[in-house]
Amino acid sequence: MSQLSVKHLLGIEQITISDIELIFENARYFKEVLQRPLLRKVPTLRGVTIANLFFENSTRTRISFELAEKRLSADVVNFSAAASSVKKGETLLDTVNNILAMKVDMLVMRHPSPGAHHFLSQHIDVSIINAGDGTHEHPTQALLDCFSLQEKLGSLKGKKIAIIGDIMHSRVALSNIFCLQKLGAKVTVCGPPTLVPKPIHLLNVQVSHNLRETLQWCDAANILRIQLERQDIQYFPSLREYALFYGVDKPMLDSLQKEIVIMHPGPINRGVEISSDVADSEHSIILQQVEHGVAIRMAVLFLLAGGIDEVEN
Ligand code: CP
Repeated sequence: MSQLSVKHLLGIEQITISDIELIFENARYFKEVLQRPLLRKVPTLRGVTIANLFFENSTRTRISFELAEKRLSADVVNFSAAASSVKKGETLLDTVNNILAMKVDMLVMRHPSPGAHHFLSQHIDVSIINAGDGTHEHPTQALLDCFSLQEKLGSLKGKKIAIIGDIMHSRVALSNIFCLQKLGAKVTVCGPPTLVPKPIHLLNVQVSHNLRETLQWCDAANILRIQLERQDIQYFPSLREYALFYGVDKPMLDSLQKEIVIMHPGPINRGVEISSDVADSEHSIILQQVEHGVAIRMAVLFLLAGGIDEVEN
């Protein structure tokens, strides 16, 4: 199989295990291209124009997509809502249709509204990649997280992975749960009761509110940021108290006397959900996750643009 089963990457929920394996197979090839000392570029998407539409802030995802597109030799247009006519009241669909009228071939979009990409996909002809839709999904983050874990641990079948922190507001949590389970991993979500949605057990994950027990159980811990910007009420008394009960620090890890792979999608709140000596430790693969993000996004762009038949190396 050399093509994805989907036209758009809206979420991990809609893609198959074979899709994930195909993306990883291509990402391994692109990782090798990116590690070349010179000429970290292929002509694969020459002549293809891709627009990156960011209606929400981003550092890693926006730069990673732009680099992936440029490494594939695509033409790139960047759109930021803050400096656009969205500020004058233009609708999402009008904005996108105007951009597509300028002969754009693919869209990458981050939007604060869950489902914005599903809506657009019903009204446009070009492929759209979800770079994060509110609290819903962030599929390329989950793909790069699982790819990084596989590179570190081998097959994820039966591996125990904890997702720790603000589960309620995290699109990374939901996409990771779908991706990890499709790859055969066991998942525990851990956080304060107010930040773990009650129906989450319907996704066949274990739920814990005890950080020590969760860390004792897992092979790897994906530690999430407290998303204060999405919290309309106060879900815990103070950041200080959160750090005390749910912050992962070195004394806690040392006391477990076991090896745990430490992950974080970024941006990190040092001293809140993770201490600096853990984030910067030899157990952390945080920067490898970022590095793999470019290869994963190259793979997704390449496959959605038409797959193996079109490739020129
Ligand atoms: N991980 C992630 O989505 O980071 P950015 O918000 O900086 O893109």
